[in-house]
Amino acid sequence: VYANGVAADAAELVSPSALRQPFVIGRVSGGTASGKTTVCDMIIQQLHDHRVVLVNQDSFYRGLTAEESAHAQDYNFDHPDAFDTEQLLECMGQLKRAQPVNVPIYDFKNHRRSSESFRKVNASDVIILEGILVFHDQRVRNLMDMKIFVDTDADIRLARRIRRDTVERGRDVSSVLEQYGRFVKPAFDDFVLPSKKYADVIIPRGGDNHVAIDLIVQHIRTKLGQHDLCKIYPHVYVVQTTFQI
Ligand code: CTP
Repeated sequence: VYANGVAADAAELVSPSALRQPFVIGRVSGGTASGKTTVCDMIIQQLHDHRVVLVNQDSFYRGLTAEESAHAQDYNFDHPDAFDTEQLLECMGQLKRAQPVNVPIYDFKNHRRSSESFRKVNASDVIILEGILVFHDQRVRNLMDMKIFVDTDADIRLARRIRRDTVERGRDVSSVLEQYGRFVKPAFDDFVLPSKKYADVIIPRGGDNHVAIDLIVQHIRTKLGQHDLCKIYPHVYVVQTTFQI
């Protein structure tokens, strides 16, 4: 019952998850192949009793034209302009308002987005936004309740990248090394590393750091609990006032 004597909808009082805003972890900017995905997967596993979604900044790569694709070796995929940040902001805004969104599907082999299919992402308690440059744009940073930087040794990242790009992304070793020296490493120094200052938490050794991941999960659980309370308390408070009057 509200102060004016109107009965509140029972569901409004007992269903905090329907009312609360999702907790956004802006997350896990690190260098290429730093183990961001591993860290996110571990956080998701530990939060199995909550609705958690992972949104990858890679999904918002601009698709290349046929002409650009023919010269893909000259294209800088590590520059902030390679991403459609406006679309990313739109999707994240919708998810924050607890609305479902269609996230594009990006193909690293052809440097294109799928024209037919999308991944439908539903409203959730926790949204993890992962990518190499998620701290670059201030508007994207402002969406985040917590920012994590995965700090992994450059040699380990390069070794992982060679393995990953040759096995999963249809590249050969010499093209990976050429791209690394020409674009990936300079962009890391110019854009990724300077964005580390925005992180709330820096995780050394990526997915091997179980203590850091446990602490992060504990913090998210605390925050989700507080979200519940601050949404329920106004109703509880009003009910009490009515009785006191
Ligand atoms: N990239 C590419 N070709 C494209 C698009 C992107 O080679 N058509 C590369 C960019 O050079 C960029 C990298 O993909 O450096 C971004 O993906 P990365 O962060 O390496 O992948 P993740 O899976 O997020 O890495 P991890 O989870 O291991 O940190």
